[in-house]
Amino acid sequence: MPLVPYALTRPLLFSLDPEKAHDLTMASLARLQNGAAQCLWQQARVDDPVTLAGLRFPNRIGLGAGLDKNGRCIDGLGAMGFGHIEVGTVTPKAQPGNPQPRMFRLPAKQALINRMGFNNEGLDAFVANVQRARRFRASGGVLGLNIGKNAATPIERAVDDYRLGLDGVYPHADYVAVNISSPNTRNLRELQSDAALDALLSALQARRHELAARHGRTVPMFVKIAPDLDESQVTVIAATLKKNGIDGVIATNTTLARDAVKGLPHAEEAGGLSGAPLFEASNRIVAQLRAALGAGYPIIGVGGVMSGADARARLQAGADLVQIYTGLIYRGPALVREAALAMRGR
Ligand SMILES: Cc1cc2nc3c(=O)[nH]c(=O)nc-3n(C[C@H](O)[C@H](O)[C@H](O)COP(=O)(O)O)c2cc1C
Repeated sequence: MPLVPYALTRPLLFSLDPEKAHDLTMASLARLQNGAAQCLWQQARVDDPVTLAGLRFPNRIGLGAGLDKNGRCIDGLGAMGFGHIEVGTVTPKAQPGNPQPRMFRLPAKQALINRMGFNNEGLDAFVANVQRARRFRASGGVLGLNIGKNAATPIERAVDDYRLGLDGVYPHADYVAVNISSPNTRNLRELQSDAALDALLSALQARRHELAARHGRTVPMFVKIAPDLDESQVTVIAATLKKNGIDGVIATNTTLARDAVKGLPHAEEAGGLSGAPLFEASNRIVAQLRAALGAGYPIIGVGGVMSGADARARLQAGADLVQIYTGLIYRGPALVREAALAMRGR
């Protein structure tokens, strides 16, 4: 059976509240993945291998963090043709996130605003789910596990939460993503500033040395940053990543800026804006990172990639790999293949 055209499923999903549509989709994927019905959304993975940070990625397209916060649908999502999938953000303890409603569509601009606030079932449940996923990794897919801090942990103790996260996910990850850029956990983005970033990353690098010895394997660590930074901040971050032996950077998370959506319904909702209006800002950050980091340092570009042409432009700006989230909501699984093909051989 062929891929079900997203033109048929999208109107149904968009008739629902955004979070309901999300929950329904994830519950269906979790139930149907690895079964006969997977042919409804399965697509051949584009073969375009690239090696980065010592990992062999089967192609250049990945899923951004936050869609599968509990790591429950890795195989089902993998069947869409992603070369890598990032799940999480997971926090040490389960937490409910912010009150609903907390996710909004801005269809006129192919955008979303969310203030989920790291709703997730916590590290133990996350690791159990990740261990159940076999097929995606057995087929060569790369799995990134994204860690954050609990809302109740004071920012001065953030390092403790990231250490717990690193300890828990380390044996199960192809790479670990350190998320310091969600706008929806109070003060989190402060961790991007010079001294705080240096302290966090040197603590994580030290812990990684211990974990590498214990597990006999060095797992690459990537840091995920925000788009709301000026060039001098990007330059300082780049230097701090290199100084602390961080293997790569993921740019960017959602933006606090609203200029591109002014006047539209929901535009003034608190939270992070993603999708098409984020494209230029993410491109700019990737270009600034590439200039600061030089050739050869792994950069994963994410933010506003809604087409194959956008994905190619993100590579031209300096990214090695590209992730999508909001594009998948607006375009469906076909975007995975379109983007992978557009980047093939680049
Ligand atoms: C509803 C929603 C939840 C998200 N949750 C997370 C998260 O838990 N951790 C994270 O690192 N990024 C999270 N993100 C950010 C995305 O991974 C991505 O960086 C951002 O949306 C920009 O890409 P896009 O324009 O393709 O969506 C979330 C995004 C959305 C829309």
